[in-house]
Amino acid sequence: MLKLKNIQSGYGKKQVLFDVSMSIDKGEIVSIIGPNGAGKSTILKVICGAIPVWNGNISFKSKSINKNSISQNIKSGITIAPQGSRVFNELTVRDNLELGGYLLNKSHVKKRVEYIYKVFPLLKERSKQIAGKLSGGEQQMLALARALIPEPKILLLDEPSLGLAPNLLDEVFGRLKELNQDLKVTMLIVEQKVNKVLGISDRTYSVKLGKIAFEGKSTELIGNKGKLKELFL
Ligand SMILES: Nc1ncnc2c1ncn2[C@@H]1O[C@H](COP(=O)(O)OP(=O)(O)OP(=O)(O)O)[C@@H](O)[C@H]1O
Ligand SMILES: [Mg+2]
Repeated sequence: MLKLKNIQSGYGKKQVLFDVSMSIDKGEIVSIIGPNGAGKSTILKVICGAIPVWNGNISFKSKSINKNSISQNIKSGITIAPQGSRVFNELTVRDNLELGGYLLNKSHVKKRVEYIYKVFPLLKERSKQIAGKLSGGEQQMLALARALIPEPKILLLDEPSLGLAPNLLDEVFGRLKELNQDLKVTMLIVEQKVNKVLGISDRTYSVKLGKIAFEGKSTELIGNKGKLKELFL
């Protein structure tokens, strides 16, 4: 569904990604792990169109999306929930959700919000509440729900667990797995909570200094302390 072939990219003159190749099949959950600064977020940014491809090719459903803008990608079904993605504090829950549909027409947004309320009943209850008054976990849920408004085929998630209390982690990762199974959303998840993300993902890529250092089934890494240590050195 999504393929990266020998991707090179970076910021200004600074190259961050060196020949990154990956493929994500329809229906999969794929995780990206690796040390701080390895280039994990940069991979998601180059896929969604936030930064340019220097070299190589990214294709989505067999068509090149190298030159696509973020909006074009959202329209074709690729949505990102960026690292530390926060909600608009002064706006209501409903307004935040509607902003997720800024590329859709009004009646479509309305339908999508009603649908999302079925998936996240808590957000329906809080519909008129100011988002800044939700708890951290609830805000995270709202950010995730907002990313689902444009009905993505593939959702790129950058550290969905960021800032969450340990007791909420299982709930959030369980939720992601459910969304993948029930709504058939393919997911590419960057995550520091390695054990949690390995537990819900089919396959994993590990990134080190802008290169893929490991690629395989998540089960190959679960409980494999030696290998994980090597990947994070
Ligand atoms: N906007 C930017 N401008 C310049 N350099 C950047 C920018 N964003 C990231 N970098 C650099 O690119 C490299 C990779 O950063 P990236 O954010 O992809 O890492 P990461 O693997 O997501 O790390 P973390 O786990 O800390 O989130 C780092 O050296 C970082 O300093
Ligand atoms: Mg990052």
